[in-house]
Amino acid sequence: MLTTRFSTCFGLHSPIALAPMAMASGGALTAACADAGTLGLLGGGYGDLVWVQKEHALALSLLQQRSGALSRFGCGFITWRLDEDASALDWLLDQPHTPAALMLSFGDPRPYAARIAQRGIPLICQIQRTQQLSECLEAGASVIVAQGIEAGGHGMNSMDGRSTFSLVPEIADLLQQQSPSTLLLAAGGIADGRGLAAALMLGADGVLIGTRFWATRESLASQAAVNEALNANGDDTARSIIFDILRRKNWPPVFNFRALRNQLHQQWEPRIPELICSPEPAQRAYDAGVAAADFTRAHVTVGEAVGLLHDYPGAAELIARIHQQATTLMLR
Ligand SMILES: Cc1cc2nc3c(=O)[nH]c(=O)nc-3n(C[C@H](O)[C@H](O)[C@H](O)COP(=O)(O)O)c2cc1C
Repeated sequence: MLTTRFSTCFGLHSPIALAPMAMASGGALTAACADAGTLGLLGGGYGDLVWVQKEHALALSLLQQRSGALSRFGCGFITWRLDEDASALDWLLDQPHTPAALMLSFGDPRPYAARIAQRGIPLICQIQRTQQLSECLEAGASVIVAQGIEAGGHGMNSMDGRSTFSLVPEIADLLQQQSPSTLLLAAGGIADGRGLAAALMLGADGVLIGTRFWATRESLASQAAVNEALNANGDDTARSIIFDILRRKNWPPVFNFRALRNQLHQQWEPRIPELICSPEPAQRAYDAGVAAADFTRAHVTVGEAVGLLHDYPGAAELIARIHQQATTLMLR
């Protein structure tokens, strides 16, 4: 029932990919997802070489005796950061283990495509608007991830962002015309079997899930942050540049960040120009919040799907549940 082009191509039991979430999709979560029959993408994020080496080694050690699962273990990076430092990508490409896939998000993938193709690694490109599709096809992407504005973490800014429900079928149609062999995953707001079944109906070959996997036992997210998220609902997140300023991240202005709309965020919402001009006092408040694990000031990176989180399961249990629910719904 849930066999799709994506599951067949990557040897998956379920057409699901773990999003390569910076600081959450570490070696343990990536290995658990690969072992449970989905595509496990390590959160290479900003390309911290030491972090990637450590978490990559952990995933490899956990998957040592599991050759089927090893072939479902890949990695993702934030593309614009590679323009500043691509050492983690270069290191990964030199390793004996060939990643199942490399995912690039947030920037032009073309400068990195040849290096990835030389190793025969499928390239996955995450986009937020139809106009980004052509550069990904030029880069030879095997898989496009259509990310709606509901998504947790970074995505297209609120002015230009698109919702998953209309973006996915529109990109499915474009791919059908321009590159029918390129696969499509839906991302943003998918947290259960309903979301998976809906994405398949919209023309996707599978889904890429972040927020729901963020709140699993193998995730690197702190238990305190997860508890905070479990008490929130889909109304409680916002997308803005506030946390990027507080975290001193130099993101290109077209992208911004969805997280829980906590007290510190709300305090700065009407005063963003002031925050840009003079960020230091707010950054100090944020730093203190992080040090104290006080989530009225520290960020909790989740998307609108936070309202669909009601527990803190292991990744394998979660995957089985999503698979089962989607199958039941599709049979119905
Ligand atoms: C905690 C967190 C961290 C993320 N970090 C990254 C990242 O480093 N690179 C990336 O391509 N996407 C990242 N994303 C976005 C995901 O790739 C994906 O688009 C998103 O999680 C899908 O929406 P969902 O959160 O509703 O499942 C992150 C998402 C979350 C929730």
